Amino acid sequence: HNLKVTPLVAGWHFSGIVESIAGGVDNLKVGDAVHGHLQYSSKTEQGTLTDYITVPASECAKIPEGINMDVAAAVTTEALTALQAMRDKGGLSKGKSVLIIAAGGGVGTQAVQIAKVLKAGSVHAVCSTKDVSNATKLGADLVIDRTKKDITKALDAASYDVIFDTTGKYSLMKMRYAMKKGGTFVSTIPNITDYPPFSWIVGIATGKHSKSLMVKCNRQDLELVGEWMKAGMTVPIDSVYDIKDIDDARERQESGKKSGRVVIKVADGW
Ligand SMILES: NC(=O)c1ccc[n+]([C@@H]2O[C@H](COP(=O)([O-])OP(=O)(O)OC[C@H]3O[C@@H](n4cnc5c(N)ncnc54)[C@H](OP(=O)(O)O)[C@@H]3O)[C@@H](O)[C@H]2O)c1
Repeated sequence: HNLKVTPLVAGWHFSGIVESIAGGVDNLKVGDAVHGHLQYSSKTEQGTLTDYITVPASECAKIPEGINMDVAAAVTTEALTALQAMRDKGGLSKGKSVLIIAAGGGVGTQAVQIAKVLKAGSVHAVCSTKDVSNATKLGADLVIDRTKKDITKALDAASYDVIFDTTGKYSLMKMRYAMKKGGTFVSTIPNITDYPPFSWIVGIATGKHSKSLMVKCNRQDLELVGEWMKAGMTVPIDSVYDIKDIDDARERQESGKKSGRVVIKVADGW
């Protein structure tokens, strides 16, 4: 958020009920339950920890029947980030192999499930011991415990078409040994090697690509994710707080103990 704006606004993800609609919008009606996230930009002057927000109809989607409001809010950024990173930046498609780093995190748990839905040939996941069984349950074909193996050295060489680093702590240069020729390293955090002329130089020198993404909320991707949720894609919820307990929510979020998303409800007011 833009910290220069007063009063300070906060919160990116949302689920809520449509209160009113501008002319020309024909896919939504008053009373529909919708979800999405605000665009990550310093120009975004709204926060979702509030009673009302206005969003373009193209940047939210109806919540599928049977999905509750907490889960609907929690899924938005993480699922869209994973989808856009692997499909759009990495070119992940049927039969290709992917390594997902931090499969226990918000983005990582969605990435494992989405890679399976995209019918990747092999989905390998990296996480700490505490998240190994969950990553296996989510469908990873192989789970690598990063506390037991240094992934910058000990993976099989030339194994992956796509490496998705959800942490921003790795790089193409560290992980290129594990990537196939023509493969793509995708990060949630930009790296100098993602931009010309460095991207060209790295591409020529290694035969591999480095990219990063800035997630964009859009109705089509939200609807796709909604379909997958109806079919069983899950979003772990760690805890749900009322807005009046926001300090506790922040403490939980930053505690390192959470397992899943921390949701804050504003429906009952401040
Ligand atoms: N660019 C975008 O559009 C975009 C969109 C969404 C999120 N993000 C960014 O993406 C990052 C991840 O978001 P998130 O919601 O998934 O965070 P999160 O839920 O807090 O998860 C972070 C994960 O990283 C793991 N981790 C920490 N250090 C690691 C290391 N050295 N190697 C491997 N794994 C490590 C943690 O697990 P352990 O430490 O237990 O192993 C944890 O599972 C954040 O920096 C966020 O700001 C960017």
